[in-house]
Amino acid sequence: MRLGQIVRPKRPLNLNLTAIACIFVLLTYFVVSYRWPFSPKHGAGLVFGVTAATLFVFEMLYPARRPRARPLGTAQAWIQAHIYMGAIAFCLVLAHSGLSWPHGAIGWLLLLLSFWTVVSGIVGVWLQKFIPASLAEGLQVEAVYERIPELVKQLLDESDGLVTEAGDVLDRFYRNEVRPSLSKVQVSWAFLFDVRGGRERALEPFRRVLRFVDEHEKAIVEDLMAIYQEKMELDAQRSLQGILRRWLILHVPAAGLLMGLLTVHIVSWILY
Ligand code: HEM
Ligand code: HEM
Repeated sequence: MRLGQIVRPKRPLNLNLTAIACIFVLLTYFVVSYRWPFSPKHGAGLVFGVTAATLFVFEMLYPARRPRARPLGTAQAWIQAHIYMGAIAFCLVLAHSGLSWPHGAIGWLLLLLSFWTVVSGIVGVWLQKFIPASLAEGLQVEAVYERIPELVKQLLDESDGLVTEAGDVLDRFYRNEVRPSLSKVQVSWAFLFDVRGGRERALEPFRRVLRFVDEHEKAIVEDLMAIYQEKMELDAQRSLQGILRRWLILHVPAAGLLMGLLTVHIVSWILY
């Protein structure tokens, strides 16, 4: 999986338009703040804030994309709009706060939460490109997330069946070194960095034991090795599909909190 494939945008035009919009916002900020004293409370500063808040509301409407509820456009149009409007909103927030560090706690929280939401969103975009590609490229086994524990159980039964008649050496090796890791799904972040990770090292004990077992048991060891590799692929599938399902935990609660604080920020502006 090449880095270029992960960072390459699906629709370069949208990326370019977003870059132009951000440059326009920042240039406006520089021109305005050069000519007049800048404040988020009035003029362009206020317009930046109100526009950013409007875009954030649009961002929160994203779950409405779901097929049954989707009013307009394709799923891809929705996600593209979500990603690029989010980025523009963040530029507007920077311009609204005068490209300087906030003075109060709410200001800091607004800025940090906007930053976190945008960064976690971008991480999500990368994961959604990277994980499916790395599963397809690095693994032979495909599996539906929910079925993986059941498939692992089947592999365990199969390998238990292979060693019923095994001699002492093979039996001991199987019980101590193979069965414990075959008996449950082992999820790990490490698969994110190397989807075939640790495989050679994990197969080393099998190669070692091949030298000590009877001739007729070598085929059993080889079958066990194949089962073990398949099990590692299921671990990788479960780990990476799990990350793909769960990364939104980084994104959505922060977005919700941001909207709550934004309401406080706007209400206090209306009141005072
Ligand atoms: C309807 C929209 C908005 C209005 C009316 C508004 C209003 C204001 C006002 C009046 C200030 C000056 C506060 C002061 O100097 O004490 C301010 C500052 C600020 N606003 Fe907004 N804002 C809006 C949207 C946003 C959004 C969407 C964000 C980011 C999520 C944001 C983040 C900030 C930050 C970081 C500051 C600087 C605070 C500081 O210096 O401590 N604002 N805003
Ligand atoms: C550059 C900025 C952003 C990027 C790259 C981004 C990216 C994403 C991605 C990839 C998804 C999941 C899409 C899917 O699997 O269908 C998502 C969902 C979501 N994002 Fe963002 N996002 C960004 C900004 C924001 C902002 C600013 C907010 C809110 C203030 C927000 C709120 C949400 C919500 C509520 C969901 C829906 C989760 C669900 O489907 O249940 N995002 N975002």
